[in-house]
Amino acid sequence: MIELRPAVTADVPSLLELWEVAAENDSRPTDSAVKVETLIARDPEACTVAVTEDGRVVGSLISGWDGWRAHLYRLAVHPDVRRQGLAHRLLDHAETRLVALGAGRIDAMVLEGNDLGQSLWKSSGYESQAEWRRWVRPVG
Ligand SMILES: CC(C)(COP(=O)(O)OP(=O)(O)OC[C@H]1O[C@@H](n2cnc3c(N)ncnc32)[C@H](O)[C@@H]1OP(=O)(O)O)[C@@H](O)C(=O)NCCC(=O)NCCS
Repeated sequence: MIELRPAVTADVPSLLELWEVAAENDSRPTDSAVKVETLIARDPEACTVAVTEDGRVVGSLISGWDGWRAHLYRLAVHPDVRRQGLAHRLLDHAETRLVALGAGRIDAMVLEGNDLGQSLWKSSGYESQAEWRRWVRPVG
């Protein structure tokens, strides 16, 4: 049985290991323990982990709510446990939280060419908005 629960600081090394092997890692800033710890401290419910009975972190999803918009990040499922509905469970969990907080729409960044990711979002009712491009400037 795989349990979903909020990530705690002690999970951070396991999360970084999971993201090394299981997350969408192109065209994005490098993860650091400090940044994940800051997220957990700021909103202890934002990062959900999926944990096996023997304590292994095999899935994650960050649901960010800023009081205005709702964003999903770091949906990742370890290759050992894919195609068992875990991404759908993580997504249901995050959507329930975000709707309860007041979200009217939820979005996610998905790389062009990530066919696996795109098939997950499509099957979950998400649609690509071709008219928008993301504009970024690195700071700090
Ligand atoms: C995408 C990912 C999160 C899916 O996790 P998962 O637990 O295997 O997904 P689920 O079992 O809940 O499947 C959900 C849906 O995703 C789609 N999907 C998942 N794996 C798929 C595959 N190998 N081929 C085609 N569709 C797939 C299907 O539509 C599936 O629904 P279905 O099983 O009813 O057909 C996982 O493959 C992953 O971590 N990929 C790398 C990271 C990534 O790309 N994350 C998304 C970032 S935008």
